[in-house]
Amino acid sequence: MSDTTVAGTNETATAAKSGASATERFRTDKKAGAQADPERVNLLAREVIEAVHDTIRRHKVTYDEYNALKSWLISVGDDGEWPLFLDVWIEHVVEEVATEHREGNKGTIEGPYYVPNSPEQGAKGTLPMRDGESGTPLVWTGKVTSTSGQPLAGAKVEVWHADADGFYSQFAPGIPEWNLRGTFTADENGDFEITTIRPAPYQIPTDGSCGKLIAAAGWHAWRPAHIHVKASADGHELLTAQLYFPGDEHNSDDIASAVKPELILDPKPAGDHETIEYGFVLDPVRAESAA
Ligand code: DHB
Ligand code: FE
Repeated sequence: MSDTTVAGTNETATAAKSGASATERFRTDKKAGAQADPERVNLLAREVIEAVHDTIRRHKVTYDEYNALKSWLISVGDDGEWPLFLDVWIEHVVEEVATEHREGNKGTIEGPYYVPNSPEQGAKGTLPMRDGESGTPLVWTGKVTSTSGQPLAGAKVEVWHADADGFYSQFAPGIPEWNLRGTFTADENGDFEITTIRPAPYQIPTDGSCGKLIAAAGWHAWRPAHIHVKASADGHELLTAQLYFPGDEHNSDDIASAVKPELILDPKPAGDHETIEYGFVLDPVRAESAA
């Protein structure tokens, strides 16, 4: 993703600025690590530290390498890129463990760019977007059901995605606040219809510390094009997912390891737009996990 100077402002939409905004957003929205159980902290912190010790011994890590690591860790914080680092390289395994009991829809990582309370669009509507927003128009229909097959009237479907340049509103400057973000409410049959545009493949920030790691290791920074979604209904587990497009070269080597075959759409051309059909099956909250 190259820098884009936003018309009428001095601001430049850089990826690293998106990273710093993601740190602020996390501080605002999440109850960060509120009440970790001391026994779990003891166990988990000790095992992670021991895993690092094992790597140092196995590969005979030098003082130069240790100091490079120290300097890099300091800069990840300075750049506000901890949310990016964690969501790209760690979150997918947390998601896997958290949802392994599910019978309904597969989910995947949330990533750093979710904003709660996006504007309500009813059961059928168009995501807020600029006049002439670039990208192929998409008309997406779907139904929200429970694992029993029962349609979930009133289910919420929150959608957010990048624009055709790979930028997210509220994280890159110069984009209207709720651009390509909205909340839909399924009708009495559990149905919804969402009109939007096809997002572009997305490069995670390359101009900050995560980018330095990627360059130093000779990796690439790409995520396939994706639409983020959270589907929720009373008495059901919140589903956080991303939907992908077939044929994207990064479906098989996503930097964030977040693609699953069940999440790949099947768009059908329809004149000047494409249609997609994709619904969600939500797991009822299990008795033992209900508070
Ligand atoms: C990142 C960005 C995303 O859009 C996403 O879905 C996951 C991770 C990131 O930049 O870290
Ligand atoms: Fe994303």
